[in-house]
Formats: sequence, C-alpha cells, structure tokens
Amino acid sequence: MIQRTLVLIKPDGVERGLIGEIIKRFEQRGLKIVGMKMVWVDKEFAKKHYSEHIDKPFFEELLTMITEGPVVAIALEGRNAIKVVRKIVGSTFPEEALPGTIRGDYAHSLVEGRNLVHASANEKDAEKELSLWFKEDDLKEYERSDEKLTIGKR
Ligand code: RTP
Ligand code: MG
Repeated sequence: MIQRTLVLIKPDGVERGLIGEIIKRFEQRGLKIVGMKMVWVDKEFAKKHYSEHIDKPFFEELLTMITEGPVVAIALEGRNAIKVVRKIVGSTFPEEALPGTIRGDYAHSLVEGRNLVHASANEKDAEKELSLWFKEDDLKEYERSDEKLTIGKR
C-alpha cells in the first residue's frame, strides 16, 4: 500500500545540526519527500499536533520541547511508509532504540521529551497530521528515478 506519513525533525535535531543526516536516512531507503518546510510552531499549534497526549503527565513538557526552536516538517511517501518510517526512527525511549535507527544512533535518553524525531503512528494519525502541517498544494507529485524498484507498478 502506498502511504504518506509525517516526520518532524524536532528542535533538538535541528539544533544539533542533524537535519541532513536524518533526511538522508529516509531518502536513501527509497522514501520520496513530497513536502518539506521549516516552521517554528506556537503552543496552540503544538496542542493540536499532540492532542492525543493531552491527559499525559508529560504533556506540558512536550509542548515546551516542540516549541523551543524550529522544526523541519517532512511529508514522505512510499510503500508501507508509515511502518517503514517508524522503524527507521526507532523506539520512543532512546535507551531502547536499536543501533541503526535514528534515535539509536543519535540520542541516548529521553531528556525532557527530546528524541530528535516524530513520525506518524498509524494511517489515521498520518492523515490528521499531514493536513495539520501541510496544505494540499504544498505536497508535490513527481517521480523518483528509482521508483520502479521501490514502488513498483502502482
Ligand atoms: P512521536 O509521536 O514524537 O513520533 O513519538 P512516539 O510515537 O515514539 O511516542 P509517543 O508515545 O507518541 O510520545 C510522543 C512524544 O512525547 C514525548 N514523551 N515523553 N516523559 C515521557 O515519559 C515521555 N513519553 C513520551 C516524546 O518526545 C515522544 O516522542
Ligand atoms: Mg507518537
């Protein structure tokens, strides 16, 4: 199934100069970037993005973390993109994240919610998050030259 999913390079990833390194991992895996922008969101917007966590004890910390600097929002497309992207990102808690994943290679502990990246958890979240972060015409349709290998016949 061809899916689209949202990735955010969180403020800690941007501040540590890891934008290129993180994007490279998705790109080289064959995922297509169909939208990308840098945004510094406010708490009101962050509450919409993280609405599922509103009752969690770490909700305030989460809002502070995601608004402490600019983030890079990326829309990725590919076969089973939601699952593949979550695997590339690794476990929420960096101590549990396997080497070879973004969190397993570049983060070591969940300090104040900082774990470098966000990735949509499922189809419903992906749809909600993509429409929150991107307008319809921010997302571009084009072909990658390796698509017949990574996507096949649609
Ligand atoms: P994300 O939504 O950012 O892709 O991360 P995730 O699915 O792996 O984790 P999720 O359970 O959705 O949690 C969202 C973000 O909240 C922060 N968090 N803090 N202090 C805590 O115990 C705690 N637990 C989660 C992290 O920034 C996590 O990525
Ligand atoms: Mg999540």
